Amino acid sequence: MGEELYPRLSWLSPKTEVRESPIHGRGLFAAGDFTKEEIVAVKGGRIITREQLHDVNQRLGPVEIQIADDLFIAPVAAEEREASMLYSNHSCNANLGIRGNIIFVAMRDIAAGEELTHDWCVTDDDSYSVQCRCGSAFCRGTLTGKDWQRPELQERYAGYFSWYLTNKIANHVATARWE
Ligand SMILES: C[S@@+](CC[C@H](N)C(=O)[O-])C[C@H]1O[C@@H](n2cnc3c(N)ncnc32)[C@H](O)[C@@H]1O
Ligand SMILES: [Zn+2]
Repeated sequence: MGEELYPRLSWLSPKTEVRESPIHGRGLFAAGDFTKEEIVAVKGGRIITREQLHDVNQRLGPVEIQIADDLFIAPVAAEEREASMLYSNHSCNANLGIRGNIIFVAMRDIAAGEELTHDWCVTDDDSYSVQCRCGSAFCRGTLTGKDWQRPELQERYAGYFSWYLTNKIANHVATARWE
């Protein structure tokens, strides 16, 4: 099994490239055009718990995506880091959404040269609060791990939330109706 044939834990479309981003550090960019719904990237790595994630973040930094209340996909060793990173930064005006739990698709047609971003609200249910540096006209300033609960974001990203958040949103709406 040659490394050239199976080089990475994650899959990045050959029409992507990683380079310096105006948002933060390195980002993922379109090197060719994408059409709406086209698969741009698929996250791979190890399935780990929140407790294990704490250790991983201390050693490797922010490298995970959340796939359930207490489950994440991430590299766990330094030698796995590069093979698992997608380098997708957060934007409040994201052009990628999630299908299932790990598949990143174009939410609209994307032109070569655009930075490929997802909104963390489509993957995260957490307790953080951080300042956003996306610079978009839609920027909400402060990002929190509970942004998936915001009605305007549920509307904007409808159909593009991670599976476990789609279920939460459905339950949330049902509960709110009974209150
Ligand atoms: C998985 S990394 C994305 C790749 C990262 N730019 C790099 O060079 O490694 C996620 C980290 O990027 C930074 N980041 C991404 N988007 C951001 C944003 N809109 N505002 C502030 N920081 C952001 C945060 O430090 C976050 O923890
Ligand atoms: Zn923003």
